[in-house]
Amino acid sequence: VGTGPAPRAVVPFYGRHQAGIATPAPAHLLFATFDLDPAATAEDVRFLLQTWTATAARLTQGQPAVADDADPAAAPAAAAFDPAGLTLTVGLGPEVFSPERGLAERRPRWLGPLPPFRFDALDPARSDGDLCVQACAEDRLVLFQAVRELTGLAAGCARPRWTQAGFGPPADPAARGETTRNLQGFKDGTANPRPSDPEFDGIVWVQPDDEPAWLRDGSFLVVRRIRMDLDRWEALSVAEQEAVIGRYKDSGAPLSGTDEFDTPILAPQEDGDHLVPVHSHIMVAAPVHNRGARMLRRGYSYDNGWDPAANNGNGQADAGLLFLSYVRDHVSQFIDVQRALDNLDELNAFITPVGSAVFAIPPGAAEGEYLGQGLFE
Ligand code: HEM
Repeated sequence: VGTGPAPRAVVPFYGRHQAGIATPAPAHLLFATFDLDPAATAEDVRFLLQTWTATAARLTQGQPAVADDADPAAAPAAAAFDPAGLTLTVGLGPEVFSPERGLAERRPRWLGPLPPFRFDALDPARSDGDLCVQACAEDRLVLFQAVRELTGLAAGCARPRWTQAGFGPPADPAARGETTRNLQGFKDGTANPRPSDPEFDGIVWVQPDDEPAWLRDGSFLVVRRIRMDLDRWEALSVAEQEAVIGRYKDSGAPLSGTDEFDTPILAPQEDGDHLVPVHSHIMVAAPVHNRGARMLRRGYSYDNGWDPAANNGNGQADAGLLFLSYVRDHVSQFIDVQRALDNLDELNAFITPVGSAVFAIPPGAAEGEYLGQGLFE
């Protein structure tokens, strides 16, 4: 048996939907946002999307960033490489559709910053953005180079605004074995819709009758950087933590059941008591309490190291969840749920949203097309 190179992990780039949403989440994330130069025209944005598409199509397949006939020496990814499952998902922020760019009519009606929430402590410098790239791969170096490549190509049109790295277990289910755990130690993602579920498409993708037409087969991405007060969380007993989430820490089962994937019993018992606490996270977020609203959560843990200024100068880990959710309609499927959580969720005492952004995610491109092409036709 030969010991040839391990097979390279390649996720197709072209397709009906952009990769990086319904595709398995690899271990590493680098989320990058960009500000458009105020003078950048619609034509400049179109050109940038063309360039990003061509380059992303190469990088995700492990090809050098530029074709052989150009001089690749200066590019970070100058030779063929193992893309380690790299996906590059591009999104458009509200400013792309400014009246000065002539794209206002194409703007998705609700695309704009989220309404303020009670527990928000948003840092404007680390919120919003006119463009985003969600880069995911099993290899952090691949992510760094890919994002650096796209950042270089944006020069003159858009420049970096904020970035956030994130991590989780590898995508390979054999290596993972169980649902990802977040930094609070709980399984996170149990109730997510799966791509094989019949409802998945209607939850995640903008549908044939939805407006605007250019966004059909695309999605909306809501990003929330949510810091965790882990000292406070870890001061609770396990039973107290479980009452906050509404699930057992070990198994991930709802407090009304024994298996992780048991359907939670949320209605009161005959004596009026609830098996799952009324103000627990899963009780408040449950679709039955939110007019059926569901979302695809594809977040990553983040760790920005020690923040010496936090906690009144006593220092604190700057760590938590980069919450990323993909939905067809971010008003009914995200904002309404977030509002309920803001009002009722016990978890609020242990988390603080410190960053926020919303992006329209264009559909995938077919070979020969570019991402967002429908916006300019
Ligand atoms: C740091 C912040 C958060 C943490 C630690 C957290 C943690 C969890 C955990 C442990 C679960 C149970 C397992 C699962 O089904 O995934 C869960 C479920 C869920 N979370 Fe969160 N979450 C956070 C923020 C949010 C936000 C901002 C939203 C949406 C606005 C949200 C919406 C949901 C939904 C919809 C469910 C599934 C409810 C169900 O159908 O049972 N979460 N979350």
